[in-house]
Formats: sequence, structure tokens, C-alpha cells
Amino acid sequence: MTEVTVKVPAEKAGEYRIEIGMGILTCAWSKIESQFGAAGKFVVTDANVVKAGHLDKLLSGKDVPSYVISPGESSKNMNTLVSIVEAMENAYLGRDTVVIALGGGVVGDIAGFAAAVFKRGVRVVQIPTTTLAQADSAIGGKTGVDSSLSKNAFGCFWHPSAVYIDVATLKTLDERQYRAGLVESVKHALIADEKYFEFLESNIDAILRRRSDVLEQVAYHNCRIKAQVVEADPTEKNQRRMLNYGHTIGHAIEWGSGFELLHGEAVAIGIIAAGMIEMETGLGDEKRLARIRKVLAGLGVPVRKPANIDAAALTDIIKRDKKAINKWPRFVLIDRIGAVHRRDGQWAVEVKQDVVEKVLGKL
Ligand SMILES: NC(=O)c1ccc[n+]([C@@H]2O[C@H](COP(=O)([O-])OP(=O)(O)OC[C@H]3O[C@@H](n4cnc5c(N)ncnc54)[C@H](O)[C@@H]3O)[C@@H](O)[C@H]2O)c1
Ligand SMILES: [Zn+2]
Repeated sequence: MTEVTVKVPAEKAGEYRIEIGMGILTCAWSKIESQFGAAGKFVVTDANVVKAGHLDKLLSGKDVPSYVISPGESSKNMNTLVSIVEAMENAYLGRDTVVIALGGGVVGDIAGFAAAVFKRGVRVVQIPTTTLAQADSAIGGKTGVDSSLSKNAFGCFWHPSAVYIDVATLKTLDERQYRAGLVESVKHALIADEKYFEFLESNIDAILRRRSDVLEQVAYHNCRIKAQVVEADPTEKNQRRMLNYGHTIGHAIEWGSGFELLHGEAVAIGIIAAGMIEMETGLGDEKRLARIRKVLAGLGVPVRKPANIDAAALTDIIKRDKKAINKWPRFVLIDRIGAVHRRDGQWAVEVKQDVVEKVLGKL
């Protein structure tokens, strides 16, 4: 078992532990009981996670009030949030409640947000069960739901009180989801740790075979890196923006594909685009880009923009990026594998529109 401690600003939760271990799900409940004692518990999960047997493993027959959402992003909305809060009221839960989020990023985001607003805020424990959630969404305290117009339109920072990562839960995950979620691991290595990148390079087969010992190491490095970045900048004023590597163009491609591409698949193409921008601006080289392309292709995610997504349409989407100032966002770039390029203390830097357009044309 491995442990990572994340410190969040003292006026909020203080700090919390992330425990990582193969099979930790079966002892997570007794850990929760010993951390929170008699406090009321409420589990939020989704129907696929239940079907895969993970809820039974967590509860082993205990009768705990819970809410099972329909799987998928379309459940991450205000209606589901209201249903969760009302289910908590129906279970006579009070301000001492601990919400337990068992599932992927959709469950984690909505359960975290429900915890943040229920009776002005109760504690939440995250038990992520997808590669994306274990690497990214369960750590860092971002919670929220979508509106009918945009993703995460409602939301707030609400840090968990504990995180339990059981890599064995990944064994039941659909292959495409599994692979796409691993792209966030590649991103972490690229922005923070060359040794970790080398580890990913040399363990692709074991990762794809879902070998638990290797997955535990992957989870550990992801948590360590994300925790470090979040601690340095809990509310995304500057440094935390480096987690956006590959995401500005990635988000545009995700949107431009009409969400045919999974988030991680679009971000993989976005990471290649960032590498091409680095080459255009004198920060990158062909050899480095080839290494990155090889790892992503090895994971079986796309490394080229689908031909039916038009480059001009992408430019238009990028202009509407939520972080854009005067209709053009800044971009996170790297100087080398493991080191983000900084200019004037900024972790996201200006890149001229014509440079981006040229890259999109070749992507
Ligand atoms: N809060 C953050 O910082 C943050 C960061 C990144 C993404 N997100 C959010 O995360 C969401 C995406 O998360 P996701 O990719 O985990 O998607 P998801 O939660 O929809 O899970 C993907 C699919 O896998 C199923 N599933 C989950 N665990 C399983 C398991 N162990 N076995 C079998 N099936 C399983 C789910 O039912 C779903 O069908 C998006 O809403 C995104 O906005 C949040
Ligand atoms: Zn992402």
C-alpha cells in the first residue's frame, strides 16, 4: 500500500490522505468507519459500477443509504443533483454526513458537489474507479455539474477528506475508457517528471495488460504530481494551469468531434499539437515529439486529428475557450520532458494565432 498526503489551504480541509492499493476497496469501509466514526454515510455511485460488483465489495452486505445514477455525462446535471440531495434528506442525514463517491469522474464531480451544497457543506470521500478519475478528477477538489449549455457550468472547489484508490477496480473498465484515461498519466509525466515518462515508455505492455503492481506505481506518480501542483496553487491562479497541457486544443477537438472522441483521446491529439507548437516556436524537437507520439500510439489513443474535423472550425472553438482573453487563450508548453516552459513567471504563454493555425492544418 502506498500513501500520498495532500495539503490544502488550512482554512478549508487542512490536509487529506490518498491511499493507494490493490484490493483496498474491501477494507475501505472499515477505514472510513475509523476515520469518521458514527457519522451518517451516504454512497453515490453509478449503475455500471454496481453491475461490476464494486459497490458490493465496498459495503459487503452493510445496509447503507445510497443513490445510483445512470452512467454517463448526461447524468451530470442539476436534476440528478437535486435527486441526490433529496435522497440524503429522506435518509434523515445531517451536517455530520460523509458522502462516499464510488465511480468515475461523473460520480466524483456530482457527489463532490452534492457534498459541497448539502446543508452548507458536508465531507466527501472519493473512491475513483476509472483511469481518468484515479489520475485526475478525484484529486484536487474540483466539483460540479453541467448546464444545458456548457460543461461544469455550476461548481465549486470542495476537497475530499480522504481518497482511496484501488487499481483492481480498473479491471472491469471498458478498454476504450481505460486507454483514454491513461492520457492524463502521460500528461503528468510530460509536465513534471522525465523519469516517470521513461517508466511509462518501458511499461506500456504491462499497463495495457492491467498488471496491478505497475498500475499502483502509475497511480502513485499521478497522485504525487497532481498533489504537488494543487498544493502550490489550490484555486488555479497560475501554476495549476500546467495541468492544462494539451487541453486547450484537446477541448476544441473534443467539442469539434461532437463528443465522439473521449476526453483523453482528444487530449492525446492536443498533446501532439502542443509538441508541434513547441517545434514551431523553437522549444521542441522532432526526436522528443516522436517519443511522445510513440507512447500515445502505444496506448492505442489517436495521435492525429480526424479528417472530418476542420482546422478553421477548431480555431473558432479555441477563440471561445473559457480561459481566453480577447478571444485568444494562452498555451501550456514544455521546454523538455518534465519541465513546463515559463515566461515572465507565467505557466501558460502567448502563442500567435497563425502558429496555431499552421499546426492545426498539419495535425
Ligand atoms: N474534477 C476534476 O478535476 C475533473 C478532471 C477531469 C475530468 N473531470 C470530469 O470527469 C468526467 C469523466 O470521468 P470518467 O472518464 O471517469 O467518466 P465516467 O465517470 O462517465 O466513467 C466512464 C464509464 O465507465 C463506467 N465505469 C466507471 N468505473 C467503472 C469500473 N470500474 N468498471 C466498469 N465500468 C466503470 C461508467 O459507468 C461510465 O460508463 C467528466 O464529467 C469530466 O468533466 C473532472
Ligand atoms: Zn483532462
